[in-house]
Amino acid sequence: MVTKLNNISVNVLFLLLFTISCTAQSKVIDIKKFSRNADITEAFTRAWKEACASTGASKIIIPSGIHKMKAVNVQGPCKASVEIQVDGTIQAPADPNALKDAYEWIKIQYVNSFTLSGKGTFDGQGAFAWKQNNCGTYQNCKRHSMNFGFNFLNNSIVRDITSKDSKNFHVNVLGCNNFTFDNFHVIAPKTSINTDGIHIGRSTEVKILNSNIATGDDCVSLGDGSRKVIIQNVTCGPGHGISVGSLGKYTKEEPVEHLVVKNCTITGTDNGVRIKTWPSTPGTTTVSDMHFEDIIMNDVRQPVIIDQEYCPWNQCSKKDPSKVKISKVTFKNIKGTSKSKEGVILVCSRSVPCKGVELSDVSLTYNGAPIVAKCVNVKPKVTGKAPICSA
Ligand SMILES: *[C@@H]1O[C@H](CO)[C@@H](O)[C@H](O)[C@H]1NC(C)=O
Ligand SMILES: *[C@@H]1O[C@H](CO)[C@@H](O)[C@H](O)[C@H]1NC(C)=O
Ligand SMILES: *[C@@H]1O[C@H](CO)[C@@H](O)[C@H](O)[C@H]1NC(C)=O
Ligand SMILES: *[C@@H]1O[C@H](CO)[C@@H](O)[C@H](O)[C@H]1NC(C)=O
Repeated sequence: MVTKLNNISVNVLFLLLFTISCTAQSKVIDIKKFSRNADITEAFTRAWKEACASTGASKIIIPSGIHKMKAVNVQGPCKASVEIQVDGTIQAPADPNALKDAYEWIKIQYVNSFTLSGKGTFDGQGAFAWKQNNCGTYQNCKRHSMNFGFNFLNNSIVRDITSKDSKNFHVNVLGCNNFTFDNFHVIAPKTSINTDGIHIGRSTEVKILNSNIATGDDCVSLGDGSRKVIIQNVTCGPGHGISVGSLGKYTKEEPVEHLVVKNCTITGTDNGVRIKTWPSTPGTTTVSDMHFEDIIMNDVRQPVIIDQEYCPWNQCSKKDPSKVKISKVTFKNIKGTSKSKEGVILVCSRSVPCKGVELSDVSLTYNGAPIVAKCVNVKPKVTGKAPICSA
């Protein structure tokens, strides 16, 4: 009787252990399982399907070596967390037409707990596409594919990866919650067109940490609906700096709220930190709680700028003021060198002047002398060492 009971409990225990190990089992998928040649396009999609269906955490490994891949578009929801570890280099086709008008070369959507990791590189091979880019002069220009689209991902991480020579923006973050880039690298030549590093829109809690971004356009840009963004220990340059906006062009834009840019070094860029809104446009969104602190500028053409008359290539009229309301913006402990005498430009809207702007220990030099500040429709609170405002 006693023996029998023991047998039953052993059986129950075994069953219990078996169930636990089954549900929690993690899975490793080598992409080579699905690919017999250098092109991993189909293998990528098949590996994703297997990983996404796994009831335990899964990891797809893309080993060292050079792989070729055309546009991919994978999505969740997945049964458990999915990681892609890239140790090699993945090359996009150089010919933009081979991506068949994909908005992004690699699009990953609707996943909770996604990780992209590894020492690998995603090479967009953009040089050929940049030559065809006429978006600077022609509004209805053909849009090339971005390297990455991370859409509607929650609790996700990109770490250690390099994004190189995208045909357009490197990364588009849309509709994500709690998304971190850590030790992420973006590399494209200074002369490459529209190759913004990371663009964020309609997303909450995005962190960009310990990263280097060297490109031909904005290092990081925040579109409408960006909330709780932290950019820390990031080097930027060459490129166009860290930008909020441009905003105001459309009526349905969501507010941009709570940005902290901290301990960053910005080198050889056109702009350093900038907020830009369009004049004579209908948008009435708001920008608030923007904090820029502990920033080193090295030879930056325009280190600190709020521009509510943003109008590149004279595409617009400056007749009517911007309707975008900007408030609570602090620039604190910003040091280094400016390539213009007016190193701080704060040009706010005459219909909605900026409120709660603060300059605190902003000590930049131009040719060895302190810079000056231009302030229009704003009365910044000045503490510590900071340039005196003139209109
Ligand atoms: C992400 O979070 C949002 C908000 O909590 C939720 O509505 C959405 O379903 C989540 N997406 C996934 C893929 O888990
Ligand atoms: C954010 O995502 C990371 C990575 O998945 C996770 O470890 C962390 O717990 C998440 N934070 C919150 C507040 O959910
Ligand atoms: C800052 O980022 C660099 C990589 O760019 C990294 O090597 C360094 O450890 C980071 N510092 C901290 C304090 O995390
Ligand atoms: C601040 O940035 C410098 C230069 O990139 C880096 O060496 C240092 O580790 C960073 N500190 C923190 C706390 O991020």
